[in-house]
Amino acid sequence: MSKLINHDDIAKILYTEEQIKERIAALGAELRKDYADVEGEIVLICILKGAVMFFADLARAMDLNLQMEFMGISSYGNEQRTSGIVRITKDIDTSIMGKHVIIAEDIMDSGLTLSHLMKLLASREPASVKICCLLDKPSRRETDIAPDYCGFTIPNEFVVGYGLDYNGFLRNLPYVGVLKPSVYRIEE
Ligand code: PRP
Repeated sequence: MSKLINHDDIAKILYTEEQIKERIAALGAELRKDYADVEGEIVLICILKGAVMFFADLARAMDLNLQMEFMGISSYGNEQRTSGIVRITKDIDTSIMGKHVIIAEDIMDSGLTLSHLMKLLASREPASVKICCLLDKPSRRETDIAPDYCGFTIPNEFVVGYGLDYNGFLRNLPYVGVLKPSVYRIEE
C-alpha cells in the first residue's frame, strides 16, 4: 500500500497553509505587543503532541526572548472525549516560578484538559499563565474556560492536520482539514 497521504480522506480544507501562516503572524504580533515589556522571563510551553507545528511557528512569529519548553499530557478518556483528569507524561525542564507562561495548544474542545493543566501550573507560582490556542471549539465546552489568544473558532467537526491527528496519523498535513466521516466511521 502507498505510504503517500491520501488527501481524499479530507472532506474539505478548513484553513490553508497560507491562512494559518497569516493568522499566526497576527497572533505573534499581538503577543509581542503584550509581552515586550513584562518584568521577568517568558516561557512558551508546547503541549505535545498536537501543538508541535503551532508552537514552532508561533515561537518564530513572536520575536520575543523566551524559553521553549515541552509538556506531555495523557488524558484519561476515549478517542472522542477527554475526562479532564490529566497525567503528566513529560514535564517541563525548568521552574516557572515568577515567570510568564504562555501555553501553546492546538485545540480546545471540552476545555477539561487545559482547565486541569492551568490549576497544576498555577500551583508552581508563575507570574502569569495565558492560553494561546490555534483552534477553539466553544460549542463543546464543559467547563468555564476560554483561550486568551485564539487562532480560529471552529464548528464541531473532526479536524486533522497541522498537528492534529486521527489515530496518530495526519499530523503532518500542512493544512487543517475536516476528516470524512466515512474514514472514522469504519471503526465505529
Ligand atoms: C487534544 C488537544 C488538547 C485536548 C483538548 O489532545 O491537544 O490537549 O485534546 O481536549 P479537551 O478540551 O476536550 O480537554 P489529545 O489528547 O488528542 O493529544 P495529542 O495532542 O497528543 O493529539
